[in-house]
Amino acid sequence: MNIKFDYNGKNVIVTGSAKGIGKEIAMAYAKAGAQVVVADVCEKEGRQTVEEIRVKGGTADFVRTDVTEEQSVIKLVDEALRLLGRIDIMVNNAGVVGRIKGDPLTALDTADWDRSYQINLRGVFYCCKAIYPIFVNQGFGNILTTASVAGKTGAPEIIEYSAIKAGVINFTQTLSRELGSKNINVNCICPGFVYTPLYEAAAPTYKEKYPQMFKNAKDGKGVVDEFSRQLCALKRAQTPADVANAALFLTSGEAGNITGQALNICGGCEFR
Ligand SMILES: NC(=O)c1ccc[n+]([C@@H]2O[C@H](COP(=O)([O-])OP(=O)(O)OC[C@H]3O[C@@H](n4cnc5c(N)ncnc54)[C@H](O)[C@@H]3O)[C@@H](O)[C@H]2O)c1
Repeated sequence: MNIKFDYNGKNVIVTGSAKGIGKEIAMAYAKAGAQVVVADVCEKEGRQTVEEIRVKGGTADFVRTDVTEEQSVIKLVDEALRLLGRIDIMVNNAGVVGRIKGDPLTALDTADWDRSYQINLRGVFYCCKAIYPIFVNQGFGNILTTASVAGKTGAPEIIEYSAIKAGVINFTQTLSRELGSKNINVNCICPGFVYTPLYEAAAPTYKEKYPQMFKNAKDGKGVVDEFSRQLCALKRAQTPADVANAALFLTSGEAGNITGQALNICGGCEFR
């Protein structure tokens, strides 16, 4: 992260920050001076993120959180308030891509749909609902959600993920209208192709279902590179740092008049 943002004195919760993009976002806020609460269902890796932040001189705590459970999210916000005294920014990044079913639609089952919905959209709802009264009472706050370019373009092999991420974008925009008059900004980031553990898990299925497209892809990184080469104007993958840069910009004072936006960090694979 090379852009210099000053987050000294700011307190941030980042969900899904044990790994991948969320971890990079948490580390970027901490590097910029914020106190960070790392919230994730994975305790070991979440504590590892906290350790890495502290080793670099930052301030962080871990709160085990499952965004599919409302009580767990309420406990997260309570615990963050106890630890930090005030919360300025809530980054709702936790998400899963789930099983890559390939097409057709008939290969999708109810369990795939429900799991994606519970984590990717209902989890965002729980987080926003829990932080809502805190931000309204203090008269300021910043909410960031994470959708995907799949929520704009649609990807048939992950149709439930695409539809549910579209829901995240609409939820973000609608909430921004509700909270704008209360001095609370609500924006969304839409990554394109970023190599993270998410893709490591998905790579074998992509290779199996689409052998021609991924014949040169050896692993998760190969799948991301192939997608990027074929679909992005810039012909290269995006990085967790690219997404973290966008997050820090959107929740900064410099973006104070930006709300209800869904910003693509996708190397030009989607233009809406
Ligand atoms: N990697 C990409 O290319 C890409 C593209 C578009 C959108 N996204 C979105 O970005 C976000 C981060 O993705 P990533 O690639 O870093 O994924 P990842 O799998 O590497 O990390 C996701 C994190 O979320 C956590 N998590 C999962 N379920 C949870 C739950 N119920 N409660 C709390 N935490 C939970 C995981 O433990 C993990 O730490 C997701 O919302 C994803 O949909 C990623």
